[in-house]
Amino acid sequence: MDWTEKVVVVTGASKSIGKSISAHFADLGSKVVLGYRSSRDEIEQIVQEIKETTGNSHVTFEKLDVTDREIVKDAFQNILDRHGKVDVLVNNAGISYGGALIPSNPLEKWEEIVDTNIMGTINCIHAVSLPMLMQQSGSIVNIASLSGLIGVERLSAYSASKAGVIGLTRSLGKEYAPFNVRVNAVAPGYIEDTGMVDRIPENQMSEFKKKIAMKRLGSAKEVAETVSFLASEKAGYITGQTLVVDGGLM
Ligand SMILES: NC(=O)c1ccc[n+]([C@@H]2O[C@H](COP(=O)([O-])OP(=O)(O)OC[C@H]3O[C@@H](n4cnc5c(N)ncnc54)[C@H](OP(=O)(O)O)[C@@H]3O)[C@@H](O)[C@H]2O)c1
Repeated sequence: MDWTEKVVVVTGASKSIGKSISAHFADLGSKVVLGYRSSRDEIEQIVQEIKETTGNSHVTFEKLDVTDREIVKDAFQNILDRHGKVDVLVNNAGISYGGALIPSNPLEKWEEIVDTNIMGTINCIHAVSLPMLMQQSGSIVNIASLSGLIGVERLSAYSASKAGVIGLTRSLGKEYAPFNVRVNAVAPGYIEDTGMVDRIPENQMSEFKKKIAMKRLGSAKEVAETVSFLASEKAGYITGQTLVVDGGLM
């Protein structure tokens, strides 16, 4: 598939999986827009790095805090002004928080997770849906999580939010299908060298590792390859699905 004329937007692109997905699409030759929340200096450096390693000069960035609807609206307007279209949206931005759902833990964290992981995904899809539906082509890939399928103790808000993303994917897969816009999700298991896994204590991590059939963590590159497959014409008859990338854990 020729990716050179495809415009790909990745949210949460400043770190780990989002950075890897962005670099992968740049490597394929796409016009990639990296959405960032916190540091402009950091994203400028990443964009420069990706341009140098892939030789693709069509890599840009946009301020895109997915929880702020005004920022989201402005970001997609800027992208549409610059490129005229969005072919692929990868909703990768996400946060997690580990803690028991008991009165001593404040609910604000649960709200923040739901707001970022579900509403953030909805905000971005809402901002891009009309142009995509009107152009009658496009692909949305949401980054869910294995925890949204199996549930994980002390990760209730995160697991619920990712189950929500999976439900959203199923529904929008049906809703947008008549417009030739496909909506799928990738549900990673444990991915090495990422913010989320690095925050898991070592003793807990070694217990998790024992449950992985392939006896190793996944790589961000393996997630990125799955995302580009789902976004590509090779997956032209796939919509509403969640592809699990977990080394056989589930
Ligand atoms: N790592 C894993 O093993 C794993 C497993 C299953 C699913 N996932 C999913 O994969 C995605 C990426 O995970 P990761 O481990 O790469 O995470 P990470 O290293 O913690 O990075 C998270 C990224 O999301 C961005 N972000 C957070 N809140 C945001 C917001 N409100 N608006 C825009 N961007 C925001 C962060 O931006 P700033 O740094 O600029 O704030 C950062 O770039 C998440 O959706 C996660 O749930 C990860």
